[in-house]
Amino acid sequence: MKTALVILAAGKGTRMNSDLPKVLHQLAGAPLFVHAMQAGASLAPEHTVVVAGHGADMVRKAALAYDETAQVVAQTEQLGTAHAAAQARDALAGFEGTAIVLFGDTPFVRHETLDAMMEAQASHDVVILGFEAADPGRYGRLVMAGDTLERIVEFKDADAAERAITLCNSGVVACKAPLLFDLIDAVDNNNASEEYYLTDIVGLARARGLSATVVTCDEAETLGINTRAELAGAEAAFQARARADAFENGVTLPAPETVHFAFDTVIGRDTLVEPNVVFGPGVTVESGVTVRAFSHLEGCHIARGAIVGPYARLRPGAELSEDARVGNFVEIKNARIGTGTKVNHLSYIGDATLGRGTNIGAGTITCNYDGVMKHHTDIGENVFIGSNTMLVAPVHVGDGAMTGSGSVITSDVDADALAIARAPQVEKPGMAAKLFQILKAKKAKLQRGS
Ligand code: UD1
Ligand code: MG
Repeated sequence: MKTALVILAAGKGTRMNSDLPKVLHQLAGAPLFVHAMQAGASLAPEHTVVVAGHGADMVRKAALAYDETAQVVAQTEQLGTAHAAAQARDALAGFEGTAIVLFGDTPFVRHETLDAMMEAQASHDVVILGFEAADPGRYGRLVMAGDTLERIVEFKDADAAERAITLCNSGVVACKAPLLFDLIDAVDNNNASEEYYLTDIVGLARARGLSATVVTCDEAETLGINTRAELAGAEAAFQARARADAFENGVTLPAPETVHFAFDTVIGRDTLVEPNVVFGPGVTVESGVTVRAFSHLEGCHIARGAIVGPYARLRPGAELSEDARVGNFVEIKNARIGTGTKVNHLSYIGDATLGRGTNIGAGTITCNYDGVMKHHTDIGENVFIGSNTMLVAPVHVGDGAMTGSGSVITSDVDADALAIARAPQVEKPGMAAKLFQILKAKKAKLQRGS
């Protein structure tokens, strides 16, 4: 079934008390509205339209960073949810499939729920996602007649009997796109908020003899975020779910509450993640990996059998091959570490390719930045880089080569060669003893004088 996503993300979110629009606040390493995009992505939509208003440029950038095919349209004035959805009309011109409307501030809708809505849409004109609210508060109320949804009444417009209804509107709508825009055309703003309510399409559809129904989900899925406290609560909920998923997938977490996951973290079976590890966005970890305590990972891939940390930092573009070792106080950025290769202590490897079976000595640095441009370091297989080597990029070190400790390598090193680039050692016999004598005498004289 062909689908299009319409994500409403134009609101300011006054209660966040922020210069940043609400939908750009981060949850598990992604802007709030990207979670809605991610939930909908499982439907393989033909179109994803994000309706942006406050901070539209920033919203556009974030939307395209997640999905470069997303269309971002502007709602310059926030006149209500129906008015917001109407802004997607041009982007969906000629599209005859089902449009799913999602709210940008509602990040937990599961894709299984959207599947159920798509299924219901096959036999109903309008499908609304509802939930039984423990505290219905100010949610819109779903007025049912048997299995038929008759209309949605907003809290502000509801009478006492309607306010007593506990079946509430989540905001998610599924409807054929041409019908959706047709119904939206008929929505007015004669209500307590003087807004164009998307929820009015249900009553309008029923008045035309069309069918409307409700798919229900757990209240936790429809959690909307309005305040920073709610954002923190949502983060906790996300992390709890990510931990449960990790256990389910065969990941060992001895101190689960200290591990922080991102919205897209993928971890394989029999991987051990020790306490206090942070996963930023874009991390994939294969099976049988060990991530030791206090490591920080983002935008990287770790192949099976590798050991990372403790205290390792893997930045975007770090690629660890099988059985690689990255030890304490090592930073890797945009670099491929070959199979079984070791970078065990106190090193920076950036913009580099390291072959298999290579050993990088403690304190090694790839000097990748000349103040203006970045340059690449290429190190072959079975290389031994001596401790405290500076590799001034661009530079190539051939297979089987060695560098002497403390070298500053500024030109390429041939395969199997030993490169030493440091001042030669000078030895002065007896000089140390003499120096000690002189210095001690000086100190004694000073102490006598005072
Ligand atoms: C809406 C529903 C209500 C439901 C509740 C669930 C309507 C009229 N009401 O109310 O039935 O129970 O959500 O949380 O739809 N937005 C725009 N442009 C606008 C207005 C809103 O993009 O002009 C976006 C907001 O950024 C937000 C979403 O639409 O992401 C929902 O808007 P909001 O004002 O929060 O609606 P509610 O009053 O919560
Ligand atoms: Mg709301």
